[in-house]
Amino acid sequence: MRTIEWDSGVVRMIDQRKLPHEYVEVEFTDYRDVARAIKEMYIRGAPAIGAAAAYGLALAAVHSEAGSKSQLVADVRIAADVLRETRPTASNLFWALGRMLARLEDESLRGVDQMRQALIAEAEDLAEEDVEVNKQMGQYGAELIEDGYNILTHCNAGGLATVDYGTALAPIRTAWKQGKRVHVYVDETRPRLQGARLTAWELMRDGIPMTLIADNAAGYFIQSGKVDLVFVGADRVVANGDVVNKIGTYKVAVVAGENGIPFYAVVPTSTIDLSVESGDQVPIEERDAEEVTHVRGQLIGPEGVRVANPAFDVTPHRYVTGIITEHGIAYPPLAKSLRALCATKKG
Ligand code: MRU
Repeated sequence: MRTIEWDSGVVRMIDQRKLPHEYVEVEFTDYRDVARAIKEMYIRGAPAIGAAAAYGLALAAVHSEAGSKSQLVADVRIAADVLRETRPTASNLFWALGRMLARLEDESLRGVDQMRQALIAEAEDLAEEDVEVNKQMGQYGAELIEDGYNILTHCNAGGLATVDYGTALAPIRTAWKQGKRVHVYVDETRPRLQGARLTAWELMRDGIPMTLIADNAAGYFIQSGKVDLVFVGADRVVANGDVVNKIGTYKVAVVAGENGIPFYAVVPTSTIDLSVESGDQVPIEERDAEEVTHVRGQLIGPEGVRVANPAFDVTPHRYVTGIITEHGIAYPPLAKSLRALCATKKG
């Protein structure tokens, strides 16, 4: 199942807002619609957002009427500016836009047609690599999972949050395929319910045993010895190892730490941002109040109630047992080990 794909000048994606009750695919030919789809969370999850932005730039190039290289570059840059403003926290968005813009700077590209083709190919490569990277993380992470383990996860860091296969769900999928008996506690993940709607749907589709729990029940299950490991994804991991992920992750990490339960973030190196020193410097997206006041269109609080709705929080690195990447697992001191793993990538 691919969350997003390119089909001759059209970007097709699953409208995740409708899951699990309706499986709907939507098609876009205008990068501005892709930007809207990211903002409104038709597509979400850091790696999937990155792929959508890359395909958005390919659309901008293909549908631009530019006849000169400089005009095409200008048009694509305008599109990048629009896409950059969609969601502020996910590293992969900025990483993917940077990678696509760098491709445009290749002097050997002759003329606008070659540039358009190069951007399509780059977006396709980026999407393909995402799936490969997830499978590699699955291999590394599965080594931590023993037969009979109960794993708790928060939000959706599955295939739907990536191009395919997932980040935090990748080791679980791999372990399951290896024949290990696993069971997953899925936090519902208020307010957007990515756990209840998306993670539960994915795991049930794969036949992986799971139990949906209210966010507030996570501490109870961890404290009563029912959880062996916590695996989450991240929107950004920064230089000191702080993990920025879906709101509520911090609470899970603290309770896991308090109870001696290992807490791992599973992230591709495209989610690691070494240019930022600590998590408190990462912009945290504030989303619409209606996500909190309404459940499935139904008002649940008093009319006019004041609301705060941060979409992410920061888990300080002291609560992080390790960071699983496609190049291996980084352990504390994370400031050092993450840098070494990211250097592997470049080298
Ligand atoms: O607001 P969302 O649904 O885009 O948030 C997604 C998450 O927080 C995920 O855990 C994170 O992006 C990692 S996805 C592989």
